[in-house]
Amino acid sequence: SDIETLIRALPKTELHLHIEGSLEPEQMFEFAERNGVDLAFDSVEDIRAAYEFNNLQEFLDLYYQGMSVLQTKQDFHDLTFAYLERVKVDNCRHVEIFFDPQGHTERGVPFNDVIEGILSGLEEGGKAFGITSHLILSFLRHLSEEDAFKTLEQAEPYLDRILGVGLDSSEVGHPPSKFERVFAKAREMGLKSFAHAGEEGPPEYVREALDLLKIDRLDHGNRALEDERLVKRLHDEKIVLTSCPLSNLKLCVIDDLKDSPLKIMLEAGLKVTVNSDDPSYFGGYLNDNYIAAAEALKLTKDDILTLVRNGIEGAYLSEDRRGHIL
Ligand code: HPA
Ligand code: ZN
Repeated sequence: SDIETLIRALPKTELHLHIEGSLEPEQMFEFAERNGVDLAFDSVEDIRAAYEFNNLQEFLDLYYQGMSVLQTKQDFHDLTFAYLERVKVDNCRHVEIFFDPQGHTERGVPFNDVIEGILSGLEEGGKAFGITSHLILSFLRHLSEEDAFKTLEQAEPYLDRILGVGLDSSEVGHPPSKFERVFAKAREMGLKSFAHAGEEGPPEYVREALDLLKIDRLDHGNRALEDERLVKRLHDEKIVLTSCPLSNLKLCVIDDLKDSPLKIMLEAGLKVTVNSDDPSYFGGYLNDNYIAAAEALKLTKDDILTLVRNGIEGAYLSEDRRGHIL
């Protein structure tokens, strides 16, 4: 269709992507083999068949299991390079990706190997495919704030190569308030802050992310729509939201793509963007998310242009690079 052609042709950004969630089943086998890891699956088909989730936690259980094949600096480099190679096909020009260091240090993989592998993948892939990038260190919210502080400390030698901190994993029962101090510390260190909120958690978690964590961008934010005053605030403060349509569908945050919050957010004048979250697990990369949402929500060309523009304006791009993309 015309819309699909437009989506493919436009230069885009991706602002909500967990690099470990780009691990394809084929790579999972490759890394397992070269690292001598035993996989709980016999084939790529078995892995794909297991990707049926009723909620966030069911996904997270497989996501943490899957990332256990990532062990060396080379693995993290290869994973990151492959992601850039894949989104280059989608005409993606700039990415701001999350990584979950605690998912690796917990298993005995050194923090330095994780971040150095990802940074070299971003650098090498960036040059090869013409994609600029930023890296965001995300804390696992089901772990303690003390553990997050330790992780932030490990990041100190790399501060000039980290854009900010994020907050992900199991949301309900782990409100932003649990991480108020470590986010304040990160801010003092010159880092930006981001948080997943309102994916499964209540509007109150979104308010806490704004008031207590002082986030620079809101990841998901679906349930903010339940609170009219909060919507007005997101509008007035021009908060950028990273929406992930196929993720919402696969995690049963919505029952149907027609219920994606994208359209309502656009109509409310919010700075909403389209992203893939964990493309290997949710069945689609950046353009797949745009195309599926456009079809389900009957988005117009103007809607697509607004979404893509929001993704460029909501990114931490240099003026030079922004001008180059626009
Ligand atoms: N939500 C929370 N934690 C996550 C996600 C998500 O969509 N993806 C990876 N970790
Ligand atoms: Zn996410």
